[in-house]
Amino acid sequence: RVTARRHQSLSSFRLSRDQLRSVKARMRAGLEAGLKSNSHSPVKMLPSYVFRTPDGTECGKYLALDLGGTNFRVLLVKIRSGLRRSVRLYNKLYPIPLEIMQGTGEELFDHIVHCISDFLDYVGMKKARLPLGFTFSFPCLQAAINVGTLVSWTKGFKATDCEGNDVVDMLREAIKRRNEFDVDIVAIVNDTVGTMMSCAYEDPQCEIGLIAGTGSNVCYMEELRNIEKNGLGEMQRMCINTEWGGLGEDGCLDDIITEYDNAVDRESINHGRQRFEKLTSGLYLGEVVRQVLLDLTRRGLLFKGRVTEALKTPGIFETKYLSQIESDRLALLQVRSILQHLGLDSTCDDSIIVKEVCGAVSRRAAQLCGAGMAAVVDKIRENRGLDQLNITVGVDGTLYKLHPHFSTVLQETVVALAPQCYVTYLLSEEGSGRGAALITAVARRDQVEM
Ligand code: BG6
Ligand code: GLC
Repeated sequence: RVTARRHQSLSSFRLSRDQLRSVKARMRAGLEAGLKSNSHSPVKMLPSYVFRTPDGTECGKYLALDLGGTNFRVLLVKIRSGLRRSVRLYNKLYPIPLEIMQGTGEELFDHIVHCISDFLDYVGMKKARLPLGFTFSFPCLQAAINVGTLVSWTKGFKATDCEGNDVVDMLREAIKRRNEFDVDIVAIVNDTVGTMMSCAYEDPQCEIGLIAGTGSNVCYMEELRNIEKNGLGEMQRMCINTEWGGLGEDGCLDDIITEYDNAVDRESINHGRQRFEKLTSGLYLGEVVRQVLLDLTRRGLLFKGRVTEALKTPGIFETKYLSQIESDRLALLQVRSILQHLGLDSTCDDSIIVKEVCGAVSRRAAQLCGAGMAAVVDKIRENRGLDQLNITVGVDGTLYKLHPHFSTVLQETVVALAPQCYVTYLLSEEGSGRGAALITAVARRDQVEM
């Protein structure tokens, strides 16, 4: 009976093929609605002003910033064209303290500029006025490649006085305040777009960027005729940052959302927002697991019914632990030692249950991402009037890269739900800063040629 009660809790995470098909259809409807009225629909479909992928002729020295994932990075990227085409980079990681992520906008941008200043000292380039590409992994409404208004913070960021303002202006102002160096901010780039561009440099069939990390998002090359924008001249396609994490803000996912997901949403800093992201990304999966464990414990089915302080602590189950616990190579004794490390005393049975819970939550996440991806690839296939589409997805994010099963389940779901698309997945090796530099190179050359 105990097992039956436990299974009952986990069955709410199981999705049938039909349910996944229906999620694919809802994502498709979300993409279409967003294209019609970007930023007002849950799936915002934001234009990136990136019109093509790199062709190998890009060159030069660039500064890049990468803000919004697990790490903040400043990079110096050297791109060579021609026979010896290559991208070399130097980068440094800078932690962003929580009080800065959730302090004032001025503090956040001052901190960023402090890090750039330290980096320029480190590479000895304080005097050079380098072109800069800014990977800023949040929804920005762009009116040009170097103009981007922050629509709303997502994930763990909540700095004040930023939403509704131009992020490039805020960075420029902070650089002026410090008055130590100058840069030429050429492009503001979402991490999905940076990832797509970085991978497209290796594989020209790469026309989709996927992030499955702290957050979850996708961008892809859309036909300009489907985008309601004027004055874009001869261009044929533009990369669209879907911001698919917003799907469900209008309640369209309510039938698959569990009581545990609702608890996670209520405790988050953006209640009611990013509902798809909260089912699929690293910042939230551990919290969903914790909510299930709390419930099982309260019902006396786990941890001898003892609800400890550790179990009540939000954020203890980081994605890296989820990935470790689910590793097939890990003996149960090791699972128990991870739980011990988190302050949770477990029996052997407890560790089996925890592993089952992690499995149910991460499998659903991967399937949902797969259903979303199936919607995207089928849309591209239909856009191009093809019976069969061959396409590459550039991917980044700790969930995709570190979790033992996430990528396999995601890929299997895409095969099942979009059988007319042959999708290859290419891991982005050096993050999206490299892509931001490539975009900066393309944008600069286009500026010169125009
Ligand atoms: C990094 C990219 O490699 O991956 C970032 O450079 C991106 O731009 C990040 O945001 C996403 O993964 P995570 O897991 O760090 O959020
Ligand atoms: C969040 C952000 C989005 C970003 C994603 C992955 O969903 O809103 O812009 O691409 O996280 O980092």
